[in-house]
Amino acid sequence: MSSCGVTLNRHIIEEEQRHPAVAGELSELLVQLGFAAKILAREIGRAALVGKLGLVGEKNATGDSQKKLDVFANDTVVEAFAQTGLVAGIVSEELDEVKEISCEGKARYILCTDPLDGSSNTDINGALGTIFGLYRRSRTCACDVRGEILGRTAEQVAAGYVMYGTSTVLVYTCGHGVSGFTLDRELGEFLLSHEDIRCPKRGHTYSANVARAGEWDPGIRKFIEYVTQSDRASGRPYSLRYTGALVADVHRSLVEGGIYFYPPDLGHPEGKLRLLYECAPLASLVEAAGGRASTGRQRILEVPVKSIHQRVPLVIGSADDVALYQSFLAASNR
Ligand code: AHG
Ligand code: MN
Ligand code: MN
Repeated sequence: MSSCGVTLNRHIIEEEQRHPAVAGELSELLVQLGFAAKILAREIGRAALVGKLGLVGEKNATGDSQKKLDVFANDTVVEAFAQTGLVAGIVSEELDEVKEISCEGKARYILCTDPLDGSSNTDINGALGTIFGLYRRSRTCACDVRGEILGRTAEQVAAGYVMYGTSTVLVYTCGHGVSGFTLDRELGEFLLSHEDIRCPKRGHTYSANVARAGEWDPGIRKFIEYVTQSDRASGRPYSLRYTGALVADVHRSLVEGGIYFYPPDLGHPEGKLRLLYECAPLASLVEAAGGRASTGRQRILEVPVKSIHQRVPLVIGSADDVALYQSFLAASNR
């Protein structure tokens, strides 16, 4: 058995050879993402020892309380991508406005990121994540990154996440399959650990903050009633799994099958999760693995972008489970 393994960098180079449309620049960007992920994995791991837990006492762009690690993660991701010179601007959960980086011709990409997903988990040693979506700019002459993002759909050239859990895992797609890498801390390298991930057509778990079920569309409550009924022949009941970190719950659904949903509720009439840097990157990834992602009524990747911090309802995971959820929702609105 080989003791060498395939590094993230090697994998990206080989991907590019297989898919020449994935330009050389993309590898540079993904390598920088890997670099930022290593810094974050290190800092998250020792946050309790170096005074990085807790709040900074400010609210972020979308009104959430900011954790020290939110700020650190944002600064790290922004700096890592800015170093490449390939990014014109960055949309981040932690920044009110688009951060303009470069107007030069080679800055052909826009990064949308949730630098630290699941930040309610920072102080309890729970799972965290970083989500990213890379957009190719339609034009590179004018420097109006915000204007380029609005009005289009959230189709990306590459997308993925890093999950900081019992190990640090980086999962990405350039549209052709999905690959996962685990950080070997001693080597300081991401090594291929999940080759060609396929999302099972159906799962046996559901992830949602069911404390809010009373505020949801009755069709969603009927869906939960259905999947939690005992019927061994049809693989029910499903188990409930909810970590408070979208990345961790979607990772479970991607690898083992299952469904995650965050519908509109009284506090979040449009849904809670953000289209550009939470829902759309995960939708690209899950779809590339054979799963589905929708608002419940419309494919996430077909939702027109109206604002950079736009929220949408999300249901994502195994294709059959998402289809079932949609059919319950449609039936209740008939
Ligand atoms: P973030 O930490 O980036 O603000 O994201 C939190 C998101 C998502 O990761 C998670 O699934 C959901 O919000 C949890 O929300 P509730 O606490 O309302 O369940
Ligand atoms: Mn998030
Ligand atoms: Mn976040």
